[in-house]
Amino acid sequence: MNRRIGVPLFVIVLSAITGGCAKDEGPLFIPTPQPPGEPIDTAYFSLEVVPIFIEHCWVCHPDMGGLDLSPTAAHASLVGVTSTNHAPAVRVVPGDPMASVLWHKVSQSTEYGLPMPPNETYLSSSELQTIRNWIEQGAMDN
Ligand code: HEC
Repeated sequence: MNRRIGVPLFVIVLSAITGGCAKDEGPLFIPTPQPPGEPIDTAYFSLEVVPIFIEHCWVCHPDMGGLDLSPTAAHASLVGVTSTNHAPAVRVVPGDPMASVLWHKVSQSTEYGLPMPPNETYLSSSELQTIRNWIEQGAMDN
């Protein structure tokens, strides 16, 4: 009798614990609020985002995770492209960082496996802000 209810109860308790933890752990990054009336700081993909990839990511991408972050391929490899390892999630959803695998990876959320870069050389807050602004502003190829 006890054994029969033991397993389902264990599963319920376990999912309550893990579900609870996942909810509490937000990304470490806290976006800087935009002061009212300030002009928007436009994020440029080629001038600001690509250099971050070259400095921190290019050594592994191409071609780890099937992702090429080299300057000529990065935009087409990210925006609207389904993740290799975390499908059906999309690498970058224009306008929506929280739906983008890229944002979760760089902001050290563990939602989609290993944070990026995986070797504990995290991106700085200003680099994260640039990537977040770029996604929020429509992930343009500008
Ligand atoms: C030391 C090697 C290494 C570095 C440096 C690195 N990555 Fe990765 N990356 C990987 C590996 C391995 C995977 C596949 C495993 C996974 O998805 O977690 C991956 C997967 C990814 C994915 C998911 C790809 C998919 O479609 O599933 C994204 C997005 C990503 N990396 C972004 C980045 C960014 C942005 C940087 C730089 C800030 C970076 N990575 C730096 C090794 C690296």
